Amino acid sequence: MRTQVGIIGAGPAGLMLARLLQLAGIESIIIENRSRSYCESRIRAGLIEQWAHDMLIEIGVGERMKREGLHHRGIKLNFGGSLHPIDFGEMVGKGVIIYGQQEIVKDMIEARLASGAPIYFEVEDTSIHDIDGKKPKIRFRHDGKAQEIECDFIGGCDGFHGICRPSIPEGVLTTYDRDYPFGWLGILADSPPPDDELIYSYNDRGFALFTMRSPTLARLYFQCAPDEDIARWPDEKIWQELQARLGGARKLQEGEILQKGVTPMRSFVIEPMQFGRLFLAGDSAHIVPPTGAKGMNLAFADVRVLARAFAEFYRAGKTEHLDGYSQKVLPRVWKAQRFSWWMTQILHHFPHENAFDRRRQLAELNYLVSSRAAMTTLAENYAGLPID
Ligand code: FAD
Ligand code: DHB
Repeated sequence: MRTQVGIIGAGPAGLMLARLLQLAGIESIIIENRSRSYCESRIRAGLIEQWAHDMLIEIGVGERMKREGLHHRGIKLNFGGSLHPIDFGEMVGKGVIIYGQQEIVKDMIEARLASGAPIYFEVEDTSIHDIDGKKPKIRFRHDGKAQEIECDFIGGCDGFHGICRPSIPEGVLTTYDRDYPFGWLGILADSPPPDDELIYSYNDRGFALFTMRSPTLARLYFQCAPDEDIARWPDEKIWQELQARLGGARKLQEGEILQKGVTPMRSFVIEPMQFGRLFLAGDSAHIVPPTGAKGMNLAFADVRVLARAFAEFYRAGKTEHLDGYSQKVLPRVWKAQRFSWWMTQILHHFPHENAFDRRRQLAELNYLVSSRAAMTTLAENYAGLPID
């Protein structure tokens, strides 16, 4: 097989890259090692920044999101026994949208397949070759047969555990990372969310986040050990913990737990995000802790820049934008890293923290909700920094 851009991974980064390329008249093939139904049901992110929401509509995959997405003007912080709203609309004139990542993935897969463009699901033994030459290749097995795609470029959109980043020769990349001494236990429950807005809860028992997927589906998370054994958490105990961490501010209506899992937390960036004709985008190049809801949005921001650079190459034969890809995206990636780290460290319990640390966190939260300048800073980052 031959294509212009070979894309590894049918997550938000790979699917969005393919869509943007298609609209620019550039051919691509996506390969994905999971099944279509697995990709479409993997429950992960839910919060979309305003610009990303607008882009999904602009590129023709936002129809269902327009109908089903929940628009939010702000969030609430829960500490010191009461809820403190922060109104992004008032501060920065923008909002955020709740619409599940797997719904975006479904919409983009459907649009791509309907246009006749290929995605190979359930591939095995993916490897990439000649990435520093002019004709890189992707090899894999599909339906038991060995396949090869010759391409001009490779989009490494295969997530944190993919093969693209490790295919870059040793010594090229610099890694910056930090592990956190906790994870999140998350559930999806058939129960109404406790509030119209998302609640970020600072509590003596640890952090909790009360978000949603619809007016009858709650998505709830609480801070747990990084290696927490989910078997230790029967449904009843999960509800007790969530009720306790929400405090008296609202009452949770308990319902059936439809899904539960534990997510570790890390901050991770590699620099640069390219080598030869391989360009990394999304989680393959960087991970943020989920507290600021930035992961999927960063994946979209990367591929928007990357797709424009490819378009410039095919339109005018110029490599300037491709050469400058990492330099262009990394400053915004680092701002999102900073914000996610900051949100994480003001809201979570850390082992070995002392009374001073707790007082400092509370002072920070009190300052945040009493200063228009501080609320504006939070709103500006949360709703999404400028993309261009
Ligand atoms: P992925 O979604 O990981 O996609 C990579 C794809 O590549 C996968 O489909 C994988 O199967 C495939 N792949 C891997 N290896 C190979 C291979 N060898 N060959 C072929 N295919 C391969 N982000 C937000 O913006 N907002 C949120 O609210 C938010 N909440 C989150 C909550 C949780 C619990 C978690 C876990 C994450 C959350 N995130 C959030 C982060 C977000 O889900 C990720 O940043 C996002 O999925 C990154 O997209 P991606 O396409 O880069 O990677
Ligand atoms: C969601 C997840 C997050 O990590 C976050 O900060 C906000 C919302 C969500 O899954 O809805």
